[in-house]
Amino acid sequence: MTDILSHTEAGICTLTLNRLSRKNSLTSAMYSALADALAAAADDAAVRVAVIQGHETVFSAGNDIGDFLSNPPQGADAPVFRFLHGLNNFPKPLVAAVCGPAVGVGTTMLLHCDLVYAGDNAMFSMPFVNLGLCPEAASSLLVPRLMGHARAAETLLLGEPFSAESAMEWGLVNRIVPPTEANALAQQQARKLAAKPLSSLIETKRLMKLGQGAVVAERMAQEAASFGRMLSEPAAREAFTAFMDKRHPDFSKL
Ligand code: COA
Repeated sequence: MTDILSHTEAGICTLTLNRLSRKNSLTSAMYSALADALAAAADDAAVRVAVIQGHETVFSAGNDIGDFLSNPPQGADAPVFRFLHGLNNFPKPLVAAVCGPAVGVGTTMLLHCDLVYAGDNAMFSMPFVNLGLCPEAASSLLVPRLMGHARAAETLLLGEPFSAESAMEWGLVNRIVPPTEANALAQQQARKLAAKPLSSLIETKRLMKLGQGAVVAERMAQEAASFGRMLSEPAAREAFTAFMDKRHPDFSKL
């Protein structure tokens, strides 16, 4: 799978979103590859930290809309849900480097990362409502918790994009650097983590997240049920068809 590159070296498993022609939008095959790679990294004693990165021009345009239409996720074992659970359950430090657009799951996956480094061109958005959908990846729980209800309403109900500066102010991002330096900074921080005792990293992350895993998994399940149902409803059909036809959606009758 060349759309997802996986490389492990010196205790760091680096997963690169590599589908630039489609702005790193994620197909079910890519979700499968990511889920498998995370599971392998979790089990591999030689891996101490995982890094998820995109390109300096784009992190991810979110779900591949065509793939979602023709191949909607079905059931809790669907690749997208395996990936999200893999993120929630990943026991070792997870670092992300984000540049350019990070749309939908491109933003929500970051809620499950421990350290996030952004290029100053990063632009985050969770336009689920604009697509006739609802939040996923437990973002309906984690976004209000992170940034407060008022900002969450702007980002989730209005679907307004937000900059790297806002993401840092609200606690989603650790540091902002020029786009050409984001992936390198993530690697540099990953190397620091990889030099530490794995047992302490795992135990510290477990304690930091104690009590949250089951709550997050429960919210993911509730969101998935709604998201799956809404995908085939008229609002999402109109939004996706409009995207494919390169026109604005018309929700006036929905
Ligand atoms: N699914 C499928 N194809 C996508 C895509 C997606 N999520 N995002 C981008 N693409 C395709 C475009 O259709 C375009 O294809 P084309 O060259 O055949 O016309 C190509 O990738 C380049 O995208 P383009 O929109 O021209 O790039 P841009 O730099 O102007 O804008 C984005 C980048 C990410 C801001 C914009 O593509 C976008 O908003 N994408 C949709 C995001 C979205 O709604 N995701 C779903 C979340 S659930």
